[in-house]
Amino acid sequence: MLAEFVVLCLWFGSCAVTEAEDASMTRALKLMSETPLIDGHNDLPWQLRGQFNNQIKELDLHTLSTTHTNIRKIKQGRLGAQFWSAYVPCQTQYKDAVRQTLEQIDVIHRMCEKYTETFMFATSSQDILDAFRLNKTASLIGVEGGHSIDSSLGVLRTMYQLGVRYLTLTHSCNTPWADNWLVDTGSEPSRHNGLSSFGKQLIGEMNRLGVMIDLAHAPLSVMNQVLDWSKAPVIFSHSSAYSVCPHRRNVPDEVLVRVNQTGGIVMVNFYNDYVTCSKTAKLSDVADHFDHIKKVGGAGVIGFGGDYDGVSRLPEGLEDVSKVPSLVAELLRRGWTDEEVKAALGQNLLRVMKEVERVRDSLNSSMPDDVPIPYKEVENPCRTSFGYQNAGNEFSLSRAALLLILILQAGVTFNT
Ligand SMILES: *[C@@H]1O[C@H](CO)[C@@H](O)[C@H](O)[C@H]1NC(C)=O
Ligand SMILES: *[C@@H]1O[C@H](CO)[C@@H](O)[C@H](O)[C@H]1NC(C)=O
Ligand SMILES: [Zn+2]
Repeated sequence: MLAEFVVLCLWFGSCAVTEAEDASMTRALKLMSETPLIDGHNDLPWQLRGQFNNQIKELDLHTLSTTHTNIRKIKQGRLGAQFWSAYVPCQTQYKDAVRQTLEQIDVIHRMCEKYTETFMFATSSQDILDAFRLNKTASLIGVEGGHSIDSSLGVLRTMYQLGVRYLTLTHSCNTPWADNWLVDTGSEPSRHNGLSSFGKQLIGEMNRLGVMIDLAHAPLSVMNQVLDWSKAPVIFSHSSAYSVCPHRRNVPDEVLVRVNQTGGIVMVNFYNDYVTCSKTAKLSDVADHFDHIKKVGGAGVIGFGGDYDGVSRLPEGLEDVSKVPSLVAELLRRGWTDEEVKAALGQNLLRVMKEVERVRDSLNSSMPDDVPIPYKEVENPCRTSFGYQNAGNEFSLSRAALLLILILQAGVTFNT
């Protein structure tokens, strides 16, 4: 009976299941033609370094086959906007993190310039809409990991000038001003109980500049402090739901509720290990995260943050960036309305970014924060202390010695 049914389906080329699949895929593609799919995190730039040392002149990004992302797949996947990750590993902290990050920003700029028919470099919510109208993929930059700014608000501001529009506060290491998510696993000790007072300054400066605060990779303490202190909504550029898979990179329900209250967004990560807490996963497991976040935080807080080219294992059915429409179709099959799907595709991120821009504009009369981090909080052999008075370096030691000599001489003078 079953066999006959299958044969019949094959014979007519359709049956109830495939018909429903086709219908929801058609609907998914229609919605994706009306609202840009905006993805929060893609590590293609890191692959460009790892595989080509950022030499992109000779390679053809249309057909590149050693990555989850190429132009052909981007078109199939209807990728409307991408936050490309300017990521460098924690091993660069206190060494060449800033240089390496600038090189990642540079390779994103060069990629956009080489493929102008596909990418449009973008720095605002309006740019995303403009690119979508031009049938191009809006290309934005997010810096992943606070170690990339080397504890300097000046570096943050300069990166803003280069187009950076979000900063993930930490990657997988503490910075001199923020704890990272590993603190919550117990594998790393807390240094700050969340953010230090410089970390709090940084939140204010990000609000003032209009750099979105990304809490992916943050521990619970930092999530809550930022939600308390930030004047603008936050993003989780690539994190899933803790209740569905209790991994510390995921977002617990109590935080989902606060993200709803503050108008932020959680962009779901597809990495198997965060989706099922195991090495294997299916597309429907990712949809479970979407369903859960919708249930707890509402359809207004969800987005896509695939983490393509940043992870080694992806769910069956979501193997590369071309597959995302299948996930959209699955949400429709699960009863998501057109409005809910459009919210998740891009409307939510656009709302957050507009609000971040509005807060920036409301603060445009305040001056940049020019108070540097205290030297003792960043002292290390690769950092000089120019500009800091009495920082305890050779320079001020010699000044102290000079002062002592002068005092002694004065004493001698008085005694005669
Ligand atoms: C947009 O791009 C798609 C895919 O490359 C193409 O099929 C379509 O014709 C383009 N539409 C416009 C308006 O350029
Ligand atoms: C938060 O939840 C409330 C109640 O469920 C809903 O009305 C509101 O639109 C949600 N906010 C966002 C940003 O999703
Ligand atoms: Zn990450």
